[in-house]
Amino acid sequence: MVTYAPARANSRRTTGIIPLHDEVGFAGMRAAGRLAAEALDMLTPHVVPGMSTAELDRMAFEFAHAHGAIPATLFFRGYRHSVCTSINHVVCHGIPNEKPLREGDIVNIDITLIVDGWHGDTSRMFAVGEIARKAERLIDVVEKCLFLGIEAAKPGNTTGDIGAAIQTYAERQRTAVVRDFVGHGVGRLFHDEPNIMHFGTPGSGVELKPGMIFTIEPMLNLGRPHVKILSDGWTAVTRDRTLSAQVEHSIGITEDGCEIFTASPQGLFNLAPPGD
Ligand code: MF3
Ligand code: CO
Ligand code: CO
Repeated sequence: MVTYAPARANSRRTTGIIPLHDEVGFAGMRAAGRLAAEALDMLTPHVVPGMSTAELDRMAFEFAHAHGAIPATLFFRGYRHSVCTSINHVVCHGIPNEKPLREGDIVNIDITLIVDGWHGDTSRMFAVGEIARKAERLIDVVEKCLFLGIEAAKPGNTTGDIGAAIQTYAERQRTAVVRDFVGHGVGRLFHDEPNIMHFGTPGSGVELKPGMIFTIEPMLNLGRPHVKILSDGWTAVTRDRTLSAQVEHSIGITEDGCEIFTASPQGLFNLAPPGD
């Protein structure tokens, strides 16, 4: 059985029940999501050969600071950076470092900004210069998976419908869905109920209701789905070292669909339906 509760202003930990947010929550998420998306817009022209992920991290920190926001990952469980930067075979939670990006790299930048207590969580893929066709294709497939997941995010559908939509398309395109990390409720908490798996069966999981706010953040690998965590305790990589890609939006379920809180104000991250 699933129970629901109005979102409480000061809840600090998951209660096992799914918060249903009101207009105040949606307004809070709109502001936080927009700023997080603006941060990625700001970084976009700097993701070029020779730039380091540590420098991008510093730029993200300065941007947050200048806008009165706090990066949620700073000091989160011992993490010490404002963004995660996951390059090539890194699936997620890559740690920024001083190594220059190289032509042909693909990099995910994931940022969560806290604005007035609300968490805007989003990530995109960036191509460093010219990239291989297989890398381009992987990015295209994962973006279409996010589109399809968002399309399935509406009242009456279930969390399993989102996962099924993503998995079906991903596997039809001969990519593998990572199982070890999931989307999550987001709001006053960084990670809340419900879990959003990026695989599954239609109709399974919990029913989506207006007021639910969560992320969809599929990770796809060109090879096998399996990951391992490096000795730094964070960096998740593909076990077979094949390329991996991820994109993420924070969304809220409305009466007739959903609202995307982390859309790019500059139109630098536009999702489109598959053509096939
Ligand atoms: N932003 C990530 C997510 O999408 C979480 C990063 S946690 C960190 O949920 F500590 F690795 F930064
Ligand atoms: Co997230
Ligand atoms: Co994120």
